[in-house]
Amino acid sequence: MICNNLTVSEAGHLVFAGVDTVEMAKKYGTPLMLLDEGKIREKCSIYRNAMQKYFTPDSMPLYASKALSFKYIYKIAKSENIGIDCVSAGEIYTAQQAGFPLERAYFHGNSKTDSEIRFAIENGVGHFVCDSVEEVEAVNEIAGALGRKQKILLRITPGIDPHTHKKISTGSVDSKFGVAIETNQAYELVKETLSLENVELTGFHCHIGSQIFEYDPFCDAARIMLRFIADVKKMYGFEASQLNLGGGMAVRYTEDDPEIDYDANIKGIADIVKALCGEFGVKMPQILMEPGRSIVADAGITLYTAGYLKEITGLKNYISIDGGMTDNPRFTLYQSPYTVLLANRANEPCDYKCTVAGRCCESGDIIQEDVMMPKPRRHDTVAVLTTGAYNYAMASHYNKVPKPEVVMIKDGEDFTVIRRETYESMISNEV
Ligand code: LLP
Repeated sequence: MICNNLTVSEAGHLVFAGVDTVEMAKKYGTPLMLLDEGKIREKCSIYRNAMQKYFTPDSMPLYASKALSFKYIYKIAKSENIGIDCVSAGEIYTAQQAGFPLERAYFHGNSKTDSEIRFAIENGVGHFVCDSVEEVEAVNEIAGALGRKQKILLRITPGIDPHTHKKISTGSVDSKFGVAIETNQAYELVKETLSLENVELTGFHCHIGSQIFEYDPFCDAARIMLRFIADVKKMYGFEASQLNLGGGMAVRYTEDDPEIDYDANIKGIADIVKALCGEFGVKMPQILMEPGRSIVADAGITLYTAGYLKEITGLKNYISIDGGMTDNPRFTLYQSPYTVLLANRANEPCDYKCTVAGRCCESGDIIQEDVMMPKPRRHDTVAVLTTGAYNYAMASHYNKVPKPEVVMIKDGEDFTVIRRETYESMISNEV
């Protein structure tokens, strides 16, 4: 199996985080997302321990909560002693309601509204990651009006192409995010920021993309950023105390994907960062990283109930399920690979090829094409693996389909962390 939290029982049922998934589907209904708290915590601690050990003792991962944002996960982040990356006042609010200490929150986004900026400052968000000169000026103005001085990082585009899917690659010069070094605008932004009274510049941020398997692109980004830090020190006498290298480490979606050793990757990046600090004559900054996918993806699976089998003679077979792009739009958007299996017949030979089709009135609503599985029957339990990141977070009400229930598994116990939506809750804001 692609992750060590998956096994098959003697009855041929898929077992996830120690629980029988077929039993879970019966108990809670489908579509159902199961999350493995032990796996989430394991990943948090791999990042935290490796970063403290290989970079500096105060270095820290920030969970990029856009990957999956709900109250309970911020409680985990709090107790794991890590920070969070938030991209909206909505995420900040959710973290606050969970009792997360907002001084460990970093507020991202290229289009923060005035009311979001005010909300974040008033509620004590530790750092903003500012994305443009106008945003820095807006933060300065609003902080001033509130009688506060706000700590900020500047988001810089290092001009790196990490060879991942174009829609999730963000570090190159033509990007809606950040300010480029290549065009010199990054230097101008630093100068302007240093002249403002109500913002305190603490360092720089870059994010080069997502689902990146190798660690070399992160080292390339670190090289560019540390040279930038050295240049800025020479030009303006300002030495950054923080360098945020963003998120983006990959996860295994299928057996074809290589195994990833996160600890070794972080060590590899740290070795380069230390050497570069020496080379460029800058002090080792506190390093921040923003893993989202690699914290939650393989801590999640989604269970569906099979609907109808459609065999198109001489062409293709489709099995329909009771969910689809409304809870997992990733194949529709990015043709993302997934491992799909029948959870109630997990030890039967996979000798039948079929495409797993969602329930929406949209041809593109596909979860995965040409999957090999036992010939599916109505009411089989279909499991899609590695769905913890960017599935529920990107869920929609298209076709007025309610969002699924999310159940956490902790030490063999199961409990609801997000209730299943009802028709009533779905229309609760409608007048
Ligand atoms: N930091 C920043 C500034 C980001 O923009 C992102 C992701 C992350 C951290 C977290 O990256 P991760 O470790 O999760 O790769 N919806 C797409 C992914 C979009 C990623 C957006 N930014 C998907 O489903 O693949």
